[in-house]
Amino acid sequence: MQGSNQDSKFVDFDKEEFSALILEKVCFTWPSGEKALDHCSFFIPGPGLWMIVGSNGSGKSTLFRLINKMLQPDSGKIHCRLKPSLVFQNPDHQLLLPTCRSDLSLSLPSGLSFNEREKRIKKVLQQVDLQGIETRQIHTLSGGQKQRLALAGALVSDANLLLLDEPTALLDPLSQKSVLQIVQRLCKDPKRLVTALWITHRLEELKYCDGAARMENGKVGPWLSGDLLMQGLRALAGRRV
Ligand SMILES: Nc1ncnc2c1ncn2[C@@H]1O[C@H](COP(=O)(O)OP(=O)(O)OP(=O)(O)O)[C@@H](O)[C@H]1O
Ligand SMILES: [Mg+2]
Repeated sequence: MQGSNQDSKFVDFDKEEFSALILEKVCFTWPSGEKALDHCSFFIPGPGLWMIVGSNGSGKSTLFRLINKMLQPDSGKIHCRLKPSLVFQNPDHQLLLPTCRSDLSLSLPSGLSFNEREKRIKKVLQQVDLQGIETRQIHTLSGGQKQRLALAGALVSDANLLLLDEPTALLDPLSQKSVLQIVQRLCKDPKRLVTALWITHRLEELKYCDGAARMENGKVGPWLSGDLLMQGLRALAGRRV
């Protein structure tokens, strides 16, 4: 895959005081007794595309639910100056209404005029390369188009922190690449300054990020370049074989 935007091996780690998202020793245990986050501390170094990799059950999805305020930590603090929006692995769990326009309308901020609503819908559809499909029935879209529509739903709500939970897990390589490139483009757009946190099990996607971290046993490790983390994880997998 192409699209690497990394020159340095390690991500600059000295910007915590300016970070828009900081977690301080966050703990969370589900009512079933399963500990998901265990004194988890990390921050996002700045706008960009940041990826998190970790084995099943390491706490990644729970972390996103905490950042999105769907859950409250048992202890510790989350400081977030951004407006988060979650995008799930399966867009069918997210897209609720019959047409693209009606579904996006659900996420629009209130108080906008008809013309402003139409303008915003048109703009976000352009941003995800789906221009002109306002009236299409959602069930006629391909899986990749549905995932891009789910992304448009997050953007139209004015979110500037995209929490992408394995957004390409159900997509074929072409659709995977197009979602990656769109998110990468959004994160580089100086007019929008979107920050994206992207959970993945597909190591080849690390080529696209500005930094990547490994989540293990409810904790997020340090930010590394995607290439470095990929090499480390591949070496680890090789040793396990
Ligand atoms: N709704 C829930 N109720 C009870 N326990 C849960 C719930 N969701 C997650 N857990 C538990 O919390 C822990 C972390 O799960 P989580 O889904 O956050 O991991 P994950 O890293 O996203 O895994 P995966 O890669 O499989 O998606 C696991 O032990 C899991 O069983
Ligand atoms: Mg998960």
